Amino acid sequence: MSLLTGFDEIVRQGEALAPHTWFHLGGPAEYFATPRSIDELAGLVRRSAAEGIPVRLLGGGSNVLVRDEGVPGMVISLSEPAFGEIRASGHTLTAGGGAKLGHLISVAVREGLAGLEPLVGIPGTVGGALHGNAGSRGGDVGQWTCRATVMTRTGELLQRERDDLTFAYRESSLDELVIVEGQFELERDDPEELTKRMQKHWIIKKAAQPLGHQSAGCIFKNPRGMSAGMLIDQAGLKGSRVGGAEVSDLHANFIVADESASSQDVLRLIDLVRSRVAERLGVELEMEIEVW
Ligand code: EPU
Repeated sequence: MSLLTGFDEIVRQGEALAPHTWFHLGGPAEYFATPRSIDELAGLVRRSAAEGIPVRLLGGGSNVLVRDEGVPGMVISLSEPAFGEIRASGHTLTAGGGAKLGHLISVAVREGLAGLEPLVGIPGTVGGALHGNAGSRGGDVGQWTCRATVMTRTGELLQRERDDLTFAYRESSLDELVIVEGQFELERDDPEELTKRMQKHWIIKKAAQPLGHQSAGCIFKNPRGMSAGMLIDQAGLKGSRVGGAEVSDLHANFIVADESASSQDVLRLIDLVRSRVAERLGVELEMEIEVW
């Protein structure tokens, strides 16, 4: 009997993680699981805990860089339909943690519910967006969140209410293993107006960021009152390269990778950018992306 007997249909060994991330880089997961229901998810989390297997949750893979060596233990993806549902009721939208944030935004706009449309263009899942409080200059996902259902590392399902949630710049108190579902309380508005507003945000974002490249959104957090992109640009680092990784010419807080890149190239370029910005401008940049 193996450690994961009974979970054979949903667990694969040595699954390449690169295709599951926006960077398309990095090695395999020791175990990769796609549970089909909350019960299956809970069973898997409990079994992993009992067997001492470390567990990580992968969202849309748009804010993660996987190291070339890969990841020991279990990586869980909520890509099955049970975790991707979106329901509307009055001013409220409820979305599974595995639903795409972009899908949630389009449902909101279609239903005439305002608030999330400035976030258009942010990739990833609802769970990932809540975990890191994804946002733009027009606001963040946390400000519209009224409730979340989470699962702990022992497989327990909990409801977290608004009063018990805190969101700050790219940070949230939702730190349990899995964000199973999020609920968003939005404001009534005209769907046509909302569509226009969303399109405007999309055009601005597309002009300013290298969307559609092999990248992972902004690499660094903005230091208080400053823009990391502007600092990296001022330090003269646009176009700097290590192997197949390059600081974007369009927006300096993005690193774009080409087919030949390795994760190591990206990590070395991150180190180079950090040390040059510290040296030339005296600012220590903090990473926004997670390195696995
Ligand atoms: N700028 C430069 N050179 C650059 C990039 C930017 O001079 O290479 C200047 C711009 O001209 C502008 C200022 O820096 O005057 C700010 O730039 P931008 O409006 O692009 O915003 P940002 O602070 O760089 C933040 C978020 C983005 C979000 C945008 C738009 C962070 C780290 N970045 O970027 O979020 O999309 O605002 O709302 O908070 C992300 O978090 O992954 C992300 C992409």
